[in-house]
Amino acid sequence: MTEIAIVDDQADAGRIAADLIVAALGRRTDPTLGLATGSTPLPVWAALAERSLDLSAVRGFALDEYVGMPDGHPESYRVVVDRDIVGPLGLDPARVRVPGDDGGPLAEAGERYEAAIAAAGGIDLQILGIGRTGHIGFNEPGSSLASRTRLKALTPATRADNARFFDSIDDVPTHCLTQGIGTILDAGVLVLLAFGESKAPAVAAAVEGPLTSSCPASAIQLHRRAVVIVDEAAASQLE
Ligand code: F6R
Repeated sequence: MTEIAIVDDQADAGRIAADLIVAALGRRTDPTLGLATGSTPLPVWAALAERSLDLSAVRGFALDEYVGMPDGHPESYRVVVDRDIVGPLGLDPARVRVPGDDGGPLAEAGERYEAAIAAAGGIDLQILGIGRTGHIGFNEPGSSLASRTRLKALTPATRADNARFFDSIDDVPTHCLTQGIGTILDAGVLVLLAFGESKAPAVAAAVEGPLTSSCPASAIQLHRRAVVIVDEAAASQLE
């Protein structure tokens, strides 16, 4: 079932998502949070950090990571996760994983990541942004709705969107490792956030469009508890 919350501003969205996270993490002694990078979740991390909770026992699994960047690159998601999430929330960096950060062969990185998630007992709550292409994680249009963590190519639209974090679009990696749509759907609760008019078509397709791999985010319609938190602009194309 999909629940939709239309909020006045991003701070409100952050507070609602933080409430959902606190509730989900309270159900286990060693809970697991699914992390998203990008701009959208920043108000969530800010709202959660404000609560000064002891989150040192929480395990984290990021949705995705670029491939082919030198270790420690400031825009690699390992570095972004440590800077934007692990530090402000007081997570234990050793309990937080990003795909491919174990130094093993790239070809089997997806299988190893899936095994690590399973060993942690699955993900209790997954935070999601959405791309203009309708991607969740880096599952671009055409991704199998049953997909698991694997190597993928980024679309030109997503590389253009993410060029704002790099000196030029040529510096944006062409490939990534991403949790699959099947991986994402296994999480106990999904919380998808979107802000701004540029996300409105993707939000409408995800929530009200047909279930189709042309809009990977439409897969959330299959989930028993998906909460979509949007501002007025991102909600503007909902019926
Ligand atoms: C990030 C991720 C992506 C982003 C999406 C939106 O880990 O998996 O799906 O959530 O590209 O990015 P922002 O929030 O920067 O608009």
